[in-house]
Amino acid sequence: MPEPEMLERAEGVNLYTKDGKKIIDVISSWWVNLHGHSHPYIANAIAEQANTLEHVIFAGFTHEPAIRLAERLLEILPDNQSKIFFSDNGSTATEVAIKMAFQYFHNQGEERKKIIAIDGSYHGDTFGAMSVGDRGPFTTPFDPYLFQVEFIDFPDKGKEEEVWNQFKTLIDGGDVASFIFEPLVQGASGMRVYSAELLDRMIAYAQQQDVICIADEVMTGFGRLGTLFAADQLHHKPDIICLSKGLTGGVLPMGVTSCTDKIQEAYRTNDLMKTFFHGHSFTGNPMICASANASLDLLLAEECEVNRRRINERHLAFQQQINGHSMVRNCRVLGTILAFDINTEKDTSYFNEARHHLYPYFISKGLLLRPLGNVIYLIPPYIISDSDLDYVYATIMEFLNSY
Ligand SMILES: Cc1ncc(COP(=O)(O)O)c(C=O)c1O
Repeated sequence: MPEPEMLERAEGVNLYTKDGKKIIDVISSWWVNLHGHSHPYIANAIAEQANTLEHVIFAGFTHEPAIRLAERLLEILPDNQSKIFFSDNGSTATEVAIKMAFQYFHNQGEERKKIIAIDGSYHGDTFGAMSVGDRGPFTTPFDPYLFQVEFIDFPDKGKEEEVWNQFKTLIDGGDVASFIFEPLVQGASGMRVYSAELLDRMIAYAQQQDVICIADEVMTGFGRLGTLFAADQLHHKPDIICLSKGLTGGVLPMGVTSCTDKIQEAYRTNDLMKTFFHGHSFTGNPMICASANASLDLLLAEECEVNRRRINERHLAFQQQINGHSMVRNCRVLGTILAFDINTEKDTSYFNEARHHLYPYFISKGLLLRPLGNVIYLIPPYIISDSDLDYVYATIMEFLNSY
């Protein structure tokens, strides 16, 4: 691996290295940044909060930034969501969701042991999150310690009925506590898009059997797919939603797990043993809440919606341009995400290790693109300009035409 670049500062979509290079952050620094780097509105909100109440134990105390954030999230989340639980990042948001679902049954005197997940999924790096994620090189050292999960196949186009049958058989078999999924698109496994109709059908069927449906919207939340949440594109709403990444505008780490009143009801008791015992030292940190509140101001402004639509239209036009190119397979656009597979069959010796070649190539052109295997994807901050997008598309085209 090449040495890491030494960065000096970042502004808007640009990262500036110590030796004077400018790099456009086309992947929003691992999909977190929504409004550009070092955004003055968010920076000021954090600074103001730092000078007022920087941190306090979030047990026995609460504060305005946390209350405001929870209220505002519930306003924009699907209507069935009624409670917000704070944690630290995406992994803990999913960890909390898994625990919340198991304990929902435990508190009612029922022990359900199974979780259903989808092949290829990624939900984070803590043990619960790893357990419900795809097993591979990153989990190998821990595989003996991960709990058992029922994996269904990824519903590739044309395979929906087969996957539906796998799912239905598992649900009909009983003992299923929850079904966890990245809605509409799996991020880490290569921006793999799947059918909203199938997911809707699975959620509806699972909910009929009181199986808790957990949407991991850590990547898809906050406008990435066009709508504010992927769940907005579904008729049947998940019981639990996990959020992080763009929650704070991608500036500070925070996780949120929201749930329905039905789930909360199982915890509403004076029995201490039915408490949801999960907390972190920095839960509900006021500066992080201030960052999230400022990010929501920017996200909900009309300008941001216009930008998201503009990026989507530009992506769709570029998709037309590269569709049919001999180096491109399966170009997909969903909201502000564009992804395609490099046709590795064309030159296997070079592209077998595609990522290792593509990453330095694009860095040398001033673009931060971090391919997943042979998948090139764009997921830019919403403020990216048309001229920067022109440069990104032209550089990709130049690369494709050079082979
Ligand atoms: C869908 C999804 N869930 C969970 C996570 C884990 O988030 P974090 O890296 O903040 O722990 C990620 C990170 O990429 C993700 O894409």
